[in-house]
Amino acid sequence: MNHIEADPSSSMVPDSVASILPDSVKATLKYVKKETSTNYLLQRHYENTAFIAAGLAARVDNHTVPQVQLYFESGLVHDVGKSDPEIFSLIGNGRALSEEESSVVQQHPSIGYTVALEHGVHIDIAHVVLYHHVWWDGNGYPSTITPHQNISDMVWCVELADAIEASMDPNRIYRHPLTPVKMVQDISAGMGTHFHPKLHHTLHLWYESIQGQTQTDDPSWELFMDTVRSDALKFLL
Ligand SMILES: [Fe+2]
Ligand SMILES: [Fe+2]
Repeated sequence: MNHIEADPSSSMVPDSVASILPDSVKATLKYVKKETSTNYLLQRHYENTAFIAAGLAARVDNHTVPQVQLYFESGLVHDVGKSDPEIFSLIGNGRALSEEESSVVQQHPSIGYTVALEHGVHIDIAHVVLYHHVWWDGNGYPSTITPHQNISDMVWCVELADAIEASMDPNRIYRHPLTPVKMVQDISAGMGTHFHPKLHHTLHLWYESIQGQTQTDDPSWELFMDTVRSDALKFLL
């Protein structure tokens, strides 16, 4: 498969998929774009997370198309709280954050939850926004929330997709990107602590499917994401 160079600031979501998003998600994305248009990498993170979450849901867990769309929409808006002006200025300033600044950034799920509800998103999506940094073992943030046993499968899946994207993205400033194989190893080590243990099977089956489609054991990031996107679109179009 050839990787097609695209304008880095352009959306990778086809119009045919964007046009059928619910009005509440469209309105939330409009808000995100208005507040964060100077940081296209952030918007790319949202889209990549959405495609990975949709692929995980469709390819392995055999969800129906409306369910896969909900996972996709959750990925698109999961970090809406990072559009808060103070948080956005902190994450976009290109330097390591102090402890105090990190605790401000860690408010993005709570802030995002309020923003998402104000835009009328489905409550299950709002819960992804609120809980996507809560660990299976109770660590993570925000700390004063419902015990993890009550968190939905969609939250756990988008949390996994978010971590996959974050660990491999070559554009991240503070972390050396992992190859896909190393990413699978690292994330597997976090099953039962960071991630819901039942996602171990999901992750491996899904990654085997991507390896099969790319016909390589350890594809480049570009080939990996091109494949993830085209695979997810089979279930979204
Ligand atoms: Fe986040
Ligand atoms: Fe994220």
